[in-house]
Amino acid sequence: MNFTLIATATFGLEKVVADELKQLGYDDLMVENGKVTFEGDEMDIVTCNMWLRTADRVLIKMAEFKAESFEDLFQGTLAVNWGDIIPITGFMHVIGKSVKSKLFSVPDCQSIVKKAVVESMKRKYRRDLFPENGAEYKIEVAILKDVVTLTLDTSGPGLHKRGYREFAGEAPLKETLAAALVLLSKWDPSKQLADPLCGSGTIAIEAAMIGRNMAPGLNRSFASEQWEIIPQDMWSDIRDFARNSINNKEFRILASDINGRLLRTARGNAEKAGVSNNIAFQKLDVKDFSSKKKCGVIITNPPYGERIGETKEVEELYKTMGRVFRELPEWSYFILTSYEGFERLFNKKSDKNRKLYNGRLKCYLYQFMES
Ligand SMILES: C[S@@+](CC[C@H](N)C(=O)[O-])C[C@H]1O[C@@H](n2cnc3c(N)ncnc32)[C@H](O)[C@@H]1O
Repeated sequence: MNFTLIATATFGLEKVVADELKQLGYDDLMVENGKVTFEGDEMDIVTCNMWLRTADRVLIKMAEFKAESFEDLFQGTLAVNWGDIIPITGFMHVIGKSVKSKLFSVPDCQSIVKKAVVESMKRKYRRDLFPENGAEYKIEVAILKDVVTLTLDTSGPGLHKRGYREFAGEAPLKETLAAALVLLSKWDPSKQLADPLCGSGTIAIEAAMIGRNMAPGLNRSFASEQWEIIPQDMWSDIRDFARNSINNKEFRILASDINGRLLRTARGNAEKAGVSNNIAFQKLDVKDFSSKKKCGVIITNPPYGERIGETKEVEELYKTMGRVFRELPEWSYFILTSYEGFERLFNKKSDKNRKLYNGRLKCYLYQFMES
């Protein structure tokens, strides 16, 4: 079947997701706030879930229409042939959101959509009751300025869940955001990479997976893996291909932190991800960070000083980072923080900065290229 697919993205990462899709061979991409839309079939659903590192989810767009009343919403939903994808046993779970729209009661919209989906299924299967004891089909009704978008979620748990993170640090980065920082830095394994404030190691682990060409979805399952429309051997073929694509490049990423407990977590996560040989973990204060390598890349996510009483400490830390990193003039560094006065304390103006969101927190990725 042909589908319109949507790779959802955290605000600020849409272009990174689009670049990943281009790399995977997709064109005709439509890039909008929070999403990239493209065309694909069953194999593309499998491929994108398996390989996209920076998208949150892969959805099938089922319909888009204007609705100013519950009747409009019901009729628009009923017009979709849900039974083309959902089988008799399918468990139809509806979630919703509404922004700046006449239909603002999300629970009401959800129940109307559910009623209309069941009505459409009744017509297709010529039966009245559906046991809903099979695979899950999560339907989202998203209404923005009276325009309804209906989607089916092929991913299930968000794609940041790679399956390697058993323990998180204090303020771990989402895996999708960590992977985006690495892709934005254009790092490749021929260059030394370091994260001297690595916490639970997300940036180093994601970078190692990129360096080894490991598919981020290899060790997890997806909602649509249970769907009848996607043959099981598509999943096993793509997993075999992903396994065979892993390279044995030798490189060692430096990941250090002042907190020994977090480093233990980081080591455990790296092991689970299968990249512990590519990361050298070390307990080290960033003030003592140095390298004999002439060139390299630092990608790091220091504390932001969000909690009361932390500001002074974080300000001192940023000053120290500025001093230490300047000792490595031919390195480039990428620093993600929500702290507004970062460049002043770091004592260097970035070549470029990029607005990104870490959860709900507005951050900037300050990019300093080697001089
Ligand atoms: C926001 S967290 C990093 C989270 C990490 N990106 C992750 O995904 O888990 C900031 C880290 O900086 C570390 N840190 C704070 N001061 C430090 C210092 N002086 N030297 C090295 N690490 C430090 C903290 O222990 C903490 O793990």
